[in-house]
Amino acid sequence: MLHLKSSFLQFLLLAFNILTFVAFPFTSAETVDYKNIKNAKGDKLPNFSFCGYHASEVALPAIDRKAAKTLKPGTGDQSAAIQAAINEVYKAGGGVVALEAGTYKISPGLLILNSTTLRGAGTGSTILTVDSLSDDIFTMGNQTSKGKAIKTALITDDYVPVGTGTVHVDDASGFAVGQTVFVQRAVTAKWVAAQGMNDLNRNDAPQTWIKPGTLVQQPRRIKSMNGKAISVDVPLTDSIDSTYMTGQLVAYTPPSQPSEMGLENLSIKLSPTCSGVILTSTNCTSAAISVSEWTTDSWVRNLDLTGFNNFVSVGYNASRITLTDIRMTRDGATDGGAGYALDIAVTGTQVLVANCATLGAADTRSYAVATKTLTPGPNAVLGYYVEQAVESIEPHERWAHGFLVENSTTASVLLRNRGTAGSGHGWSVNQGVAWNVNAHTLTIESPPLGENFCIGCVGQVETGSNGTFISSGALVDPPSLYAAQLADRGFDASKLGL
Ligand SMILES: *[C@@H]1O[C@H](CO)[C@@H](O)[C@H](O)[C@H]1NC(C)=O
Ligand SMILES: *[C@@H]1O[C@H](CO)[C@@H](O)[C@H](O)[C@H]1NC(C)=O
Ligand SMILES: *[C@@H]1O[C@H](CO)[C@@H](O)[C@H](O)[C@H]1NC(C)=O
Ligand SMILES: *[C@@H]1O[C@H](CO)[C@@H](O)[C@H](O)[C@H]1NC(C)=O
Ligand SMILES: *[C@@H]1O[C@H](CO)[C@@H](O)[C@H](O)[C@H]1NC(C)=O
Ligand SMILES: *[C@@H]1O[C@H](CO)[C@@H](O)[C@H](O)[C@H]1NC(C)=O
Ligand SMILES: *[C@@H]1O[C@H](CO)[C@@H](O)[C@H](O)[C@H]1NC(C)=O
Ligand SMILES: *[C@@H]1O[C@H](CO)[C@@H](O)[C@H](O)[C@H]1NC(C)=O
Repeated sequence: MLHLKSSFLQFLLLAFNILTFVAFPFTSAETVDYKNIKNAKGDKLPNFSFCGYHASEVALPAIDRKAAKTLKPGTGDQSAAIQAAINEVYKAGGGVVALEAGTYKISPGLLILNSTTLRGAGTGSTILTVDSLSDDIFTMGNQTSKGKAIKTALITDDYVPVGTGTVHVDDASGFAVGQTVFVQRAVTAKWVAAQGMNDLNRNDAPQTWIKPGTLVQQPRRIKSMNGKAISVDVPLTDSIDSTYMTGQLVAYTPPSQPSEMGLENLSIKLSPTCSGVILTSTNCTSAAISVSEWTTDSWVRNLDLTGFNNFVSVGYNASRITLTDIRMTRDGATDGGAGYALDIAVTGTQVLVANCATLGAADTRSYAVATKTLTPGPNAVLGYYVEQAVESIEPHERWAHGFLVENSTTASVLLRNRGTAGSGHGWSVNQGVAWNVNAHTLTIESPPLGENFCIGCVGQVETGSNGTFISSGALVDPPSLYAAQLADRGFDASKLGL
């Protein structure tokens, strides 16, 4: 639960809600038939319920499960002792390393290994202190190899809509149920031009949005096969349109994937602070926590993090990660001269960010949650709270797809064309869905070949917002799209320990 002091932003939002209520006192929440939202091309809403630890099908492990090893605070730098305990528990097959209450001085570069959890006695109770940021403090997982393609087939459908889980291929031999696959396509110049992204120019310098040939990959697993019709576990979050591209199905063997790792119940404090320093200061760019590429079925929960500029990042090809109940405090004034930091940066897939918050002083500013280039969906942000009216939730650049923000209170939600901003960040997201958000401002635009949504959004809609709006200005039923879609699959979001 979050217990937070009220702020100007909350005041604004409360005032707005009261106005909405006074203006429409007799309307009750509109019920949205989310299963049947469909455009002329057949695209449906992405299914966001597959986000999180084990695709939200099982609860996070009990927080009070027995520890395999317990450490007490000692004098001097405790990194070596903590790492030795993690290594020992890992070698014995995994388990929890518990840190008793107290303050532990540590250095960056700690590695959480397969099947191990590092657990404190509570936030504000177990406190890790660090005074420099030469590296990420914690990295979860250590796999850096590539996957190996074993079979590629062409997708023969004219159009594979978003929300579909079945593609037809020219040759199904060599595919099998259970295989990991990429549903992929190479970006073409024709597609870039159709998106209006072919002539970006900033100060007379041409900018490249996405280079033709770049692969847009949707990581999946084969669920069933029927002749040349192959169905994957998670419905697609980006369409494949044969007018502009040729789709491929690629079966591959991933490298071994560290899993069942946790970091929970503690505080980490960096002092001197990095929060707000200009982005060009290279001694402050690392994160408090980096979930490494290929890490899967792992979580970060109940943490208080203070003094970082970039707090948590989830790498490409990481999947099924839950980040929950993380409070990030920015305790320095922001120098935005080189842009703004990202509190939570998501480039993996099936990442669930639940009940997290960005806190700090009035002159704090960052992107609270952002995806990056071609971040594959589904990814979901639930119940995010920001203390100051300067934070946004916003895909950062270049065609992420399948991104939900629901039940969140923030200064702004932006699903849009960033044009020449940054280095030609352009259309930042397709199939972005804002659901029951309270924001001061909303910028929701749809790309020429895609669609972004604002459903049950309360806030001022900025001009140019040509996305799909449903029930603007009033919250809708169901209160949580994620929980409703999960219930459709037979699972209960309230039992996941979020
Ligand atoms: C995904 O969610 C939709 C509702 O939005 C539901 O109709 C569909 O059956 C779900 N897909 C799967 C594979 O469970
Ligand atoms: C986890 O942290 C919370 C407070 O942050 C505390 O109440 C709880 O006892 C902790 N659980 C364990 C097993 O240490
Ligand atoms: C980063 O470098 C600046 C300038 O040298 C220094 O003032 C600051 O304390 C450093 N911050 C950290 C966290 O090391
Ligand atoms: C990860 O680290 C462990 C412990 O040092 C090591 O045994 C393992 O081989 C490493 N895995 C990879 C993929 O490097
Ligand atoms: C994800 O893994 C695949 C297979 O190894 C690789 O082709 C792809 O480049 C990786 N994605 C990113 C963005 O690193
Ligand atoms: C992680 O540990 C589990 C259980 O001990 C094991 O089955 C799995 O192969 C390990 N994975 C890696 C990447 O080491
Ligand atoms: C909305 O998020 C808050 C936390 O920020 C949570 O307490 C509440 O249960 C959520 N409501 C729904 C409908 O998910
Ligand atoms: C929305 O407006 C942008 C221009 O700002 C345009 O490129 C795009 O095609 C429009 N979207 C739709 C779906 O019409």
